[in-house]
Amino acid sequence: MKKLLIALLFSFSLLTFSYASDVQLLKKARQYFSPLPEVFPSDTNPITKEKVKLGKILFYEPRISIDGATSCSKCHPIALYGADGLKKAQGNNGRINPRNAPTILNSAGQIAQHWRGDRKDVEDQAKRALLGKGSFGAPSYKWVEDKLKSIKGYEELFKKAFPEDKDPINVYNFAKAIGAWERTLSTPSRFDKFLNGHIDALSEKEKKGLEKFISIGCVSCHQGALLGGTMYQKFGIFEPYWKYTKSEKIDLGLYSITKKEEDKYVFKVPPLRNVVMTAPYFHDGSVWSLKDAIRIMAKVQLGKNLSKEDIDDIYAFLKSLTGNLTEDIKTVPVLPSYN
Ligand code: HEC
Ligand code: HEC
Repeated sequence: MKKLLIALLFSFSLLTFSYASDVQLLKKARQYFSPLPEVFPSDTNPITKEKVKLGKILFYEPRISIDGATSCSKCHPIALYGADGLKKAQGNNGRINPRNAPTILNSAGQIAQHWRGDRKDVEDQAKRALLGKGSFGAPSYKWVEDKLKSIKGYEELFKKAFPEDKDPINVYNFAKAIGAWERTLSTPSRFDKFLNGHIDALSEKEKKGLEKFISIGCVSCHQGALLGGTMYQKFGIFEPYWKYTKSEKIDLGLYSITKKEEDKYVFKVPPLRNVVMTAPYFHDGSVWSLKDAIRIMAKVQLGKNLSKEDIDDIYAFLKSLTGNLTEDIKTVPVLPSYN
């Protein structure tokens, strides 16, 4: 009886100990991360039901591209969590893009869009994709507007989404509608439950991974609600990244826009939400294995060699960032008829 009591007391103190360290971990995590918001709002583009409905339809619309076969969804299919599973995206007529397509899920929550942040927000991104030679390849905005006007079904949809506009079918409203839809693509996961105080939402291994993600220093760059998308950093602080990736070309990053020496190999720190679903990794899609990506990050960004156990734990944590896709995100809309 006495033995049993001692054993009980012992396991109880172990439990309180692990509970206390979990609470500590939660406290620490809350300093760096926050749960995903329900939507990513914008001052200049308020989210309305009608805009979101139209935006989702436009996301699937190929008839406004130069080859009639390229839509946003071609390079950001929801079936692959909004990325395309290619090293580098393929646009109209098979044109290869210079970089890997990041996911559109949660993307609106970043400080800017694209690997080099050269698109201000999701609206700016959507509009300019139309003229991108490697994406839609449209000759002009007017050409896109004429195409949209020729598809009769759009008249009603644009009118409803932009009731104040006399001539609502234009690329600015195209961008606003798609942007509004993208601003609803928030995919909370078990990690958000944890941040909201449900300590059991993560397994022991995932919690160990989270603890290491913080203590090893990943969190100095991958932070906020998206675990990224809040800053720019050089890729390869301790060593050139291409020593470890299988990069075919060396991308100069932000330097190619600013021509400032300190911007060489600088990229936006990518969000890590749903990261296990969106291989291949890095701006050139040069690495397929997430565990390799974790190892390379520690090596070139932090000058650290991780053990297999460290990598496994961080991998487990990153997997917990996969959100469930709502039915609304998953369903494909029927596009408006031509006649
Ligand atoms: C040809 C394939 C292709 C098409 C078509 C395409 N994209 Fe992309 N998208 C990409 C690539 C590649 C990038 C990264 C570009 C870069 O950083 O240089 C990207 C980046 C983005 C980003 C930024 C993500 C981030 O984390 O920075 C968003 C948002 C996005 N696309 C949405 C869209 C929308 C909306 C459309 C339709 C209007 C669209 N894309 C059409 C390939 C494509
Ligand atoms: C000094 C800043 C910094 C630190 C520290 C850092 N990262 Fe990164 N991380 C980046 C940048 C910048 C990129 C984009 C690299 C590129 O251009 O492809 C990136 C990319 C990634 C990617 C690829 C994401 C994708 O969608 O392609 C993963 C995974 C990742 N980091 C995980 C980690 C982990 C795990 C750690 C800690 C071991 C870590 N990072 C530490 C800045 C950092």
